Amino acid sequence: MADPKKLFIKTYGCQMNVYDSERMAEAMGGSGYEQVKTPEEADLILLNTCHIREKAAEKVYSELGRFKGLKADRPDLKIGVTGCVAQAEGEEIMRRQPLVDLVVGPQAYHRLPEMERQARRGEKVLDTDMPEEDKFEILKSRPKAKRGPTAFLTVQEGCDKFCAFCVVPYTRGAEVSRPVDRILSEARDLVVRGVREITLLGQNVNAYHGAGPDGDVSLARLIWALNEIDGLERIRFTTSHPNDMTDDLIAAHGDCEKLMPYLHLPVQSGSDRILKRMNRSHDRDSYLRLIERIRAARPDILISGDFIVGFPEETDADFEDTMDLIRQVEYGQAFSFKYSPRPGTPAAERAQVDPTVADARLQELQALITRQQRTRQDAMVGQEVGVLFEKPGRRPGQMVGKSDHLHAVHVDDCGASVGELRRVKITESGTNSLGGVLV
Ligand code: 5AD
Ligand code: SF4
Repeated sequence: MADPKKLFIKTYGCQMNVYDSERMAEAMGGSGYEQVKTPEEADLILLNTCHIREKAAEKVYSELGRFKGLKADRPDLKIGVTGCVAQAEGEEIMRRQPLVDLVVGPQAYHRLPEMERQARRGEKVLDTDMPEEDKFEILKSRPKAKRGPTAFLTVQEGCDKFCAFCVVPYTRGAEVSRPVDRILSEARDLVVRGVREITLLGQNVNAYHGAGPDGDVSLARLIWALNEIDGLERIRFTTSHPNDMTDDLIAAHGDCEKLMPYLHLPVQSGSDRILKRMNRSHDRDSYLRLIERIRAARPDILISGDFIVGFPEETDADFEDTMDLIRQVEYGQAFSFKYSPRPGTPAAERAQVDPTVADARLQELQALITRQQRTRQDAMVGQEVGVLFEKPGRRPGQMVGKSDHLHAVHVDDCGASVGELRRVKITESGTNSLGGVLV
């Protein structure tokens, strides 16, 4: 048999790209490729890119520049750009960086094996179509290799919300949900291969409305169906939009035993004026009331968020409203970004905030979030939580895993093995993780 060809994939950006990279690697497995850890070994390099902020997009070009020497030494090496930069910039990528052989948008991955063959014949290939078909169904079904205890599973893609700052509706296209039966069979298959925790992914995951046996099914009903799978112990989902937090989904956080007490619910800003300008279609009060209802259903739930500072026209008073909202919600986790104008989005055309002002606001906001995260983490000391062990720790006999609330937890002289879900009593809280003992 011929030696396997070697594939190196570098993944940027969100968890959906992590999932897509896994599926692409499996699809290329069907063309005789095995994955390697460094670009130097590879016959095919794929950069699975992110376009959400300018920095993320520019990284791709600097990374490509570094492959020049490799390609000069080995003319057989093929280089591809996949993901959201591929979708947004298309042919422009090949113009800016002629060493690129193929450009594949996120809705065209199932065509990757054929495109690789074309590239091997010396053609330059580009596909940024957004066909109707379910690419995941067409990609070769997942091989039966053993897996680690946690996995991502994309259930929904794209977004119809058109927030004024965001490229997602343009790069990932309109909102599409995968049918329930395909998700359930993929989930069962993952469990057979050792997975104990599944995180359902979608750019707007709680807008999920996939076809079921008798009509469309909500995310809550999908979660209840997954709850029935023996051997699956934990369910999570991300990312949600406040307007799609339906009553049944809020209730599931109280009633559904495998649904974990963690919710990523971005608000972006605490100022009504800015939320309007962002086209968020919810306001500060409706968000705060929503958080109250979710906490009534599941009092210990850990709330996580996303914030943008320095959005066009943001004043000190608007920023203070955001800080005030953060103080009211008390986040257990949050991601915050300085606004980055994205070509083609409405907000990119507006008057921009002075970057030094935006930097100062970002620092102030991050300091507050860090304090809140730490307070929430410290409050776990003395409590008993579930921990799913994922890998051995740095010290001999130590194991590390994630708690129900997604805190990293390490246990010394553990005795538990990878993939085991155990009760742990938390005894200490460090900078980035908790320590505990098995109960
Ligand atoms: N600038 C800065 N942050 C952005 N995000 C999305 N678009 C932009 C942008 N143009 C952030 C939002 C979103 C997260 C994934 O990235 O907070 O929730
Ligand atoms: Fe982007 Fe999320 Fe807004 Fe959709 S809801 S446009 S993905 S920020």
